[in-house]
Amino acid sequence: MKPKVLVTREVFDETLAYLSEHCEVDANQDDIALAADALAQRTHDKDGIVCSLTDRIDATLLARAPRLKVVSNIAVGYNNIDVAACNARAIMATNTPGVLDDSTADLAWTLMLGAARRITEVERYIREGDWKGWRLKQWLGTDVHHATLGIVGMGRIGQAIARRAQGFDMRVVYHNRKRVSEEIERKLNASWVSFDELLKQSDFVVLQVPYSPETHHLIGAAELAKMKPTAILINSTRGGVVDDVALIDALRKGTIRAAGLDVFENEPNLNRGFLALDNVVLAPHIGSSTEATRRAMAMTAAKNAVAALTGMTPPNLINADALRK
Ligand code: DGY
Repeated sequence: MKPKVLVTREVFDETLAYLSEHCEVDANQDDIALAADALAQRTHDKDGIVCSLTDRIDATLLARAPRLKVVSNIAVGYNNIDVAACNARAIMATNTPGVLDDSTADLAWTLMLGAARRITEVERYIREGDWKGWRLKQWLGTDVHHATLGIVGMGRIGQAIARRAQGFDMRVVYHNRKRVSEEIERKLNASWVSFDELLKQSDFVVLQVPYSPETHHLIGAAELAKMKPTAILINSTRGGVVDDVALIDALRKGTIRAAGLDVFENEPNLNRGFLALDNVVLAPHIGSSTEATRRAMAMTAAKNAVAALTGMTPPNLINADALRK
């Protein structure tokens, strides 16, 4: 008998084809996130689920899934999964690191360049028919080249962002709980600084830390006040790392110059205060959303699930503790 797997949201044909070779698949191809109760009902008789960051995998759901062996997230971030609850039930949890680093770094850079050169403002200006001709002082932006880039979180994506900075002749500083090796620092031409120093020195602050209780509101009013009034903040990691109310206030008052945001608190119902601001570039959580990368993420998740259900240790296991039960 093949193991039973639930795929909670729409995926690609090849993802389903691969899963179907190894599993009996129940796929929700509507691409609407299942409500908690419907998700629990569909998970009840499953050995595995392939889910996305819009699915809340908590202790209540796991308690209703007695056969479950693996929760395979189609994302690198996994703050939607209660990992401790998975450990308690010896359920493996997996994610999709690596395949999305470059696409996510590209998007962080898109936001940096877009916010620095006010690209959404100027596009709106043209579309609304307001452009009457060239002027010397028109739409003055901020230089990215030769500026100081501060990266908070120097994991794989942070490093991919830093690599791109070399082409712009930027000075790169970073803050990470653990310093990266001297070799990586040398390759990236990046120096470790304290979090406070990073906030004070950087022209661009890019957040790339995972969301957790420790990083909740890592950037709030006090941190924004430490940044340069000309600084630009980029959040390409997770909503909740920034206190959105404090950021809206800082953007309104000019505490910092601008922001570029791919993620928000309470997505998709973001704080509408952002919509009234010109000095923010907004994107709907598309950091990893290129055709190739999203296909690779879905296939990575499928392979993680199949490995776990065929007696292997999945390549991207988050919780080795689940195996020790
Ligand atoms: C991730 O992988 O965590 C991304 O946010 C999904 O796009």
